[in-house]
Amino acid sequence: MRARRIQLALPKTGTMYRRRNPYCFRIVLGIFFLFFLIFNLNIFTTQDLEESSMSDITNDSTAAILSMVPSVFHKFLTSKTRNQTVAVTTQNGTITDPYHPPNISEILKFISKYNDLQIVLNEDVFGPLQNDSVIIVIQVHSRITYLRHLIVSLAQAREISRTLLIFSHDFYDEDINDLIQSIDFCKVMQIFYPYSIQTHPYDFPGVDPGDCPRDIKKDQAIVRKCINALHPDLYGHYREAKFTQTKHHWWWKANRVFDQLEITRYHTGLVLFLEEDHYVAEDFLYLLELMQKRALELCPQCNILSLGTYLKTFNYYTYNSRVEVMPWISSKHNMGFAFNKSSWREIRECARHFCSYDDYNWDWSLQHLSQNCLKHKLHAMIVKGPRVFHIGECGVHHKKKNCDSNQVIAKVQSVLKIARSSKQMFPKTVTLTVASILKKTKLRKGNGGWGDQRDHILCMNMTLPTW
Ligand SMILES: *[C@@H]1O[C@H](CO)[C@@H](O)[C@H](O)[C@H]1NC(C)=O
Ligand SMILES: *[C@@H]1O[C@H](CO)[C@@H](O)[C@H](O)[C@H]1NC(C)=O
Ligand SMILES: *[C@@H]1O[C@H](CO)[C@@H](O)[C@H](O)[C@H]1NC(C)=O
Ligand SMILES: *[C@@H]1O[C@H](CO)[C@@H](O)[C@H](O)[C@H]1NC(C)=O
Ligand SMILES: *[C@@H]1O[C@H](CO)[C@@H](O)[C@H](O)[C@H]1NC(C)=O
Ligand SMILES: *[C@@H]1O[C@H](CO)[C@@H](O)[C@H](O)[C@H]1NC(C)=O
Ligand SMILES: *[C@@H]1O[C@H](CO)[C@@H](O)[C@H](O)[C@H]1NC(C)=O
Repeated sequence: MRARRIQLALPKTGTMYRRRNPYCFRIVLGIFFLFFLIFNLNIFTTQDLEESSMSDITNDSTAAILSMVPSVFHKFLTSKTRNQTVAVTTQNGTITDPYHPPNISEILKFISKYNDLQIVLNEDVFGPLQNDSVIIVIQVHSRITYLRHLIVSLAQAREISRTLLIFSHDFYDEDINDLIQSIDFCKVMQIFYPYSIQTHPYDFPGVDPGDCPRDIKKDQAIVRKCINALHPDLYGHYREAKFTQTKHHWWWKANRVFDQLEITRYHTGLVLFLEEDHYVAEDFLYLLELMQKRALELCPQCNILSLGTYLKTFNYYTYNSRVEVMPWISSKHNMGFAFNKSSWREIRECARHFCSYDDYNWDWSLQHLSQNCLKHKLHAMIVKGPRVFHIGECGVHHKKKNCDSNQVIAKVQSVLKIARSSKQMFPKTVTLTVASILKKTKLRKGNGGWGDQRDHILCMNMTLPTW
């Protein structure tokens, strides 16, 4: 466990960067088995999607990717960045001025103003939000390239014009803001996580100079009197700011969206959770609605609808309309899932279980909360042919070298193209399939990284009502 967080790259909004070394071997075995299974299944599947040829026909040049996107949406992929000199007209004529990104105090001012105003863009075009409309909440850090593709995919989804997109940011970036404010296919809102490391670089929740170093021994920490000396995590490590932000942001955003925004005050519909490096199929909203309609009959105890699963490979892939039901498992169902305000109310009641569990992953914390506190445990209906894809990371079979975003996006696009041409999109109904037998997911102790009392307090504080 000691090496647990050493391997991790930069913090992202995604959750796939958790690494749990002792299980690595098992995972590798599991993946091997999965490949074997999928391969075998495919031999007997009549709906083979010409998988074998797919990797050959996949063309991931930028031109090829653009050619698969209707030209009206090219603007989302090609919009300009501000990082260039801008022309400024003054009394003395036109001069050029290099672009200055805002400084921290300007960012703080903007964030506070924007969070107060709660501006909804395009409401004049698409009308007010209905109480039962779908709200899509997207957690955004700084990866604008992925975000562009997500937006292009959203733009092409049926029924998208009835939704409200809420972008929740933990990194203020004017290029990202420009991109989001150029969305013209549905209502849009931005919310800004106010406790980011970007805006608190030298104090908590960022890194305070008085914080204990990650690897110092507790007795030495106490001698040194560093701020959090008494509260290392389960594994004896002290807080690392950059690994705590995603969980705080997730919790803040959920509280903000369900309980604190004017526009959601009477909302009873589903709130769907996405992240900046996801990609949606054009029937994802259609399918969500279908699942919602059928849930009462197929799975009365289900309180989560899930549209995604992680594909180990896009090559062997059958798009279908079957759903399965099972307890919500953080590592399997943390992508593209939705629940409503009444389920949120129950989750919220258990805030303490989320906020004090020693695990810096929001999804593991949610699973912990579900298993240890919820009256109605999180139970999910999951569509077997995913409608939400994770494009932010290459599959395990990729070598680092040729593993870039274009390649994954090109794969997803060709999967969708084939699904389209074989008429597997927009199924008339969904049917329940027998869920694969899951090993009982016994709760292990947390992954650590969340031992600091300041994190527990900040997290709990996000749940206090603001009115
Ligand atoms: C990829 O697509 C682009 C644009 O459609 C085309 O110019 C190029 O020749 C293609 N490359 C391959 C290897 O097929
Ligand atoms: C902006 O441009 C400058 C100089 O052209 C470069 O040094 C800097 O890294 C760029 N910043 C970003 C965020 O691209
Ligand atoms: C305009 O030019 C005058 C004289 O060259 C200079 O003093 C002044 O600062 C300039 N104003 C601006 C806004 O550049
Ligand atoms: C940030 O920018 C504003 C306006 O340009 C300026 O007044 C302020 O002094 C700057 N603050 C810092 C800390 O640089
Ligand atoms: C939403 O529900 C509230 C309370 O039931 C009601 O007052 C309001 O008119 C509804 N809004 C819409 C747009 O239907
Ligand atoms: C919200 O979800 C719960 C659990 O899935 C369900 O029982 C309830 O009917 C839903 N509420 C609304 C208003 O749809
Ligand atoms: C909790 O939130 C309130 C108001 O939102 C703030 O005044 C207070 O300082 C916060 N406390 C902590 C410990 O963050």
